[in-house]
Order: sequence, then structure tokens, then C-alpha cells
Amino acid sequence: MYSPGMWLLALIPVISVMFLSIAEAAWPVQSFKSSPFHPPVLEVSKTGQTEPGYIFGGPADIKSDTRPTIVADDGQLIWKGGLGQFPSKFCHVFDTGLSYLDLHEAVITPHGSVLVTAFNTTRGDLSVLGGSADGRLLDSLFYEIDIASKEILFRWSVLEHLDRTNSYIPLAAKGDSQESPWDFAHLNSVQMDGDRYIVTVHGFCSEYIIDRNGRAGTVGDFTLGPGAQFCWQHDARIESRTENTITLRMHNNDNAPWASGTAVTTGLLLDVDLDTKAVSVRRRIWDSQNAIYSPSQGSYQSPRNGHVLLGHGTIPQLEEYDEHGQVVMRARFGQDGVMMSYPMFRSPWIGRPRT
Ligand SMILES: *[C@@H]1O[C@H](CO)[C@@H](O)[C@H](O)[C@H]1NC(C)=O
Repeated sequence: MYSPGMWLLALIPVISVMFLSIAEAAWPVQSFKSSPFHPPVLEVSKTGQTEPGYIFGGPADIKSDTRPTIVADDGQLIWKGGLGQFPSKFCHVFDTGLSYLDLHEAVITPHGSVLVTAFNTTRGDLSVLGGSADGRLLDSLFYEIDIASKEILFRWSVLEHLDRTNSYIPLAAKGDSQESPWDFAHLNSVQMDGDRYIVTVHGFCSEYIIDRNGRAGTVGDFTLGPGAQFCWQHDARIESRTENTITLRMHNNDNAPWASGTAVTTGLLLDVDLDTKAVSVRRRIWDSQNAIYSPSQGSYQSPRNGHVLLGHGTIPQLEEYDEHGQVVMRARFGQDGVMMSYPMFRSPWIGRPRT
């Protein structure tokens, strides 16, 4: 049976609305007798049939911590987790105090390993870009770690494999000090493709296929057809795979703080032909009634039956689209630039508490 179980009983709303600080005054939050947690009210408008399941996300005040939550379509909180933290046992993989696992990725693979992304501040010559000869860069890495043995199965660093001068991220005033390294790569998703990896290098506006030797293709290996261009993308995932093709989905928020700010955020489904190296658009999804221009983060999920769920990172909103691209649900949980969630997805879930 499809039931939220005991968690629902544990969270009893007291008054449906209360307000946080003055800065966030306009957005209502929920309160509970059983918990001091005040998640934002989810303002939902449903215009069609959504797929079964709850909305999973991590609504967070941009300046504070994220708490994972599971919420029903009517906005009712079903479950909340603790502060989002990686298990500390993984931290031994880093050898300096300046490298750290980051929030972008944690994917469990079919063979019992986990893929995680990391940042590392390191030295580099930035004089060709007009910066310091003794500059500081924020390298991006990913690791595949065996969960049972904690052994590192694979490590990959952008700095070691790609030419940093291909980055689209302006050096601006960065790179002069340890505290302000140039975040030139910003690797933000990684996934297995057989024994290879597909990674998003956000700062290069590119996806890379990485082989077991760490070799990546070069920028421009593939030809993008009409409408297939993307930049500053997030949450790139393999939707389906044949021997010679990959269908790749992504949240295309081509709207970084240093971009024009005029490119509408879309969910992009791309057919990648590995033989001809041609990329074409299969679906391009956005809400024409309420276009989003997301400056940071976001997600694209395919719950089932051709539906698509887009979450928009620092724009605290999500939409679900049906198989024809029609919006069946919009939901908002805060004001732009105040609340955020990254990523968001829909899934059936049953709580089975032990007590
Ligand atoms: C981080 O950078 C430092 C300084 O360049 C280097 O010694 C260290 O090996 C790097 N750590 C990782 C995890 O790559």
C-alpha cells in the first residue's frame, strides 16, 4: 500500500502560517508541535494529472543549511532529514585542508560505489589570462569510492586533463589569494556510462565522456544542431542509451551571473550520436506562461510516462510537465534569491519506522 506511514503522524501542524525574519517576511512557513523545523509553505497550482509520489528536495535559506524534505503535492510535509552532510568516513580521501567534497553530486552506482565531486585550491600560473603568475585555482575533481571498502576506485581532476584557458568563467578579480581562487571548472554532475563517466564541466559549458585512463574529448568534438546549444548547465543524466547513441537530459540554465540573463531556462533532452558526433534536440521544455531565468543550479528529472520535473535551484520553484510538454503542476516555496533547493525530484516513498 502507498502510505506515508508514521512520519505523517509525528508532524502535526500547529498553525499553518507563521513568518520568519523581516528579510523573508512575505513568505509563510509551516510549524509543528513535534519539531522546531519551519519549512516554507509550498504554494501549489495543479492544472493536470501529476505522476504518483512525493516531491523530494532540500529547501534552504540561501545563507543557512539545507535539510532534505519529502513533501506531498498539497504541500503537506511528510518527512524531514537532518542537516545535509556527507558521512565523515569519506573525508580521509583528501590530503589538504583546502580540498572538500561539495554538494553537487552523490550518485550510487550499480556496483556498490558512490560518485562524489570535490574542490581543491591549488597554485597555477594565471598570467596568460592577465592574472597572477603565482595564482590560485579551484580545481574540480570527482571520485568513485567503493562503499564497502572505502577504497578510491577512480579519481579525476579537471586541472590535470583539460586546458584551463577553455573556461568561460571570467577571471575577474579572482585567483590572487588562497581565499579567493578562480573557480574555473565547477564540475557539477558525474554519472557512469558503462565503464566510462559522463561529467558536466559547468565552467566549460561542456559535457565530457571520460575513459578509464582519464582521457576526455576536446571541446568541439561534437556538432550541436539547431537549438542544442547549452551553457552553465546542471544535472546532466543519461536518459537512455543504445550502442551508438546517448540521450542526455539536462537543466539548461544558460544564465550564470556573468551571462546576459536573457536566455530562458529550459529542460533539454539531447540525442547524441556517438558515430557521427552529431547532437540534436529531442525535447526542449519550459513554461511559456511563467518563464524562468535561473542564475544558479537546477535539476531535470523524468519521473515516468514522459513526464518531466524541473527544479530551478536559486529560483525556488518547480514545474511538472506531461508527455506533451504541458504544465500539470507549478509550485513555489519562497522568494528568488532567498530560498533555494538543488536538486528536486518526484518519487513514490513509504515510511517504515522501526518504532
Ligand atoms: C590539492 O592541491 C594541492 C596543492 O596543489 C595538492 O598538493 C594536493 O595533492 C591536491 N589534492 C587533491 C585531492 O588533488
